[in-house]
Amino acid sequence: MKLPFFLAKRFVAGESFTESVPKAEALNQKNLKLTLDLLGENVKNKKKASETVDSYIRLLDGIREHNLQSSISIKLTMMGLDIDRDFCRDNLFRLLDVAQKHDQFVRIDMEGSDCTQPTLDIFNEAFAEYGRHVGTVIQAMLHRSKKDIEELAEKGADIRLVKGAYKEPSKIALQDMPAIREAFKEQFKVLLSKTPCPRIATHDDELIEWMKQYAEQENIPKDRFEFQMLYGLREDTMVQLNEEGYQTRVYVPFGSDWLPYFTRRLTERKENIWFVLSTMFKK
Ligand code: FDA
Repeated sequence: MKLPFFLAKRFVAGESFTESVPKAEALNQKNLKLTLDLLGENVKNKKKASETVDSYIRLLDGIREHNLQSSISIKLTMMGLDIDRDFCRDNLFRLLDVAQKHDQFVRIDMEGSDCTQPTLDIFNEAFAEYGRHVGTVIQAMLHRSKKDIEELAEKGADIRLVKGAYKEPSKIALQDMPAIREAFKEQFKVLLSKTPCPRIATHDDELIEWMKQYAEQENIPKDRFEFQMLYGLREDTMVQLNEEGYQTRVYVPFGSDWLPYFTRRLTERKENIWFVLSTMFKK
């Protein structure tokens, strides 16, 4: 049974790109940059993976046609990572050829911990070939991330730092919030000292305030890093950060395969469940 889209519309801009364009334009008009994400994950056959690459290429085309201030975010499991690593890398490179030709940017989202090493391996190959047109994501909660951040920062890679949205066991990831916040701060410091523009993706005021203070105390200009938040969450805060002179970008997911993303948003924060329930009652 497919759930009706109106339940997800607080967190998902539309079921198609066309449906999402007015929302994307409205955010751009508020000076917020975007990263558009065509939803979906874990594609199991090569035909579907190739079609997904075509859809991502059409998304890059659509961004140019509508003059949107937007990069794109993609998932390697949608491009065949679970099927064949080299096939997935070739698919990514086909997309990056287009991004490079038109001076656009592709970020490789990070998925569950079984994908971390293959994602970083493919990212490293892509970074060597396409440089500033590609970036990836590090999940601060993973025990391995301290080392990964050091290696990626040394190369000057474009990294979005997040806490981590996937449930992982304690042998793989930190479990309590204070420890995750501490790891996040330490990893941010490394990125800020070595990379041109770290992206800080969190809605957490404690971290946001700490980052602002840390940057000020170190005399780091406000445009040397970027705050990122998810569509439908804390838009007023993003506008305010932008007015204060910080760089800001909203992650805008769209597409008919919205259920796994929607479920992650509901499980990570109980208040999100209330948003959905209130949507139901307003309907
Ligand atoms: P968290 O849910 O930990 O909440 C901490 C505190 O922040 C709360 O107690 C509250 O005080 C405040 N807060 C949180 N949400 C709020 C709200 N809506 N309003 C007011 N206060 C709020 N994950 C991943 O594994 N791979 C990825 O590629 C990405 N990509 C990504 C991109 C972007 C742009 C973002 C913002 C996030 C991701 N994530 C992700 C998800 C990320 O890993 C994480 O699961 C969520 O951001 C939730 O963690 P937070 O730090 O945002 O707040």
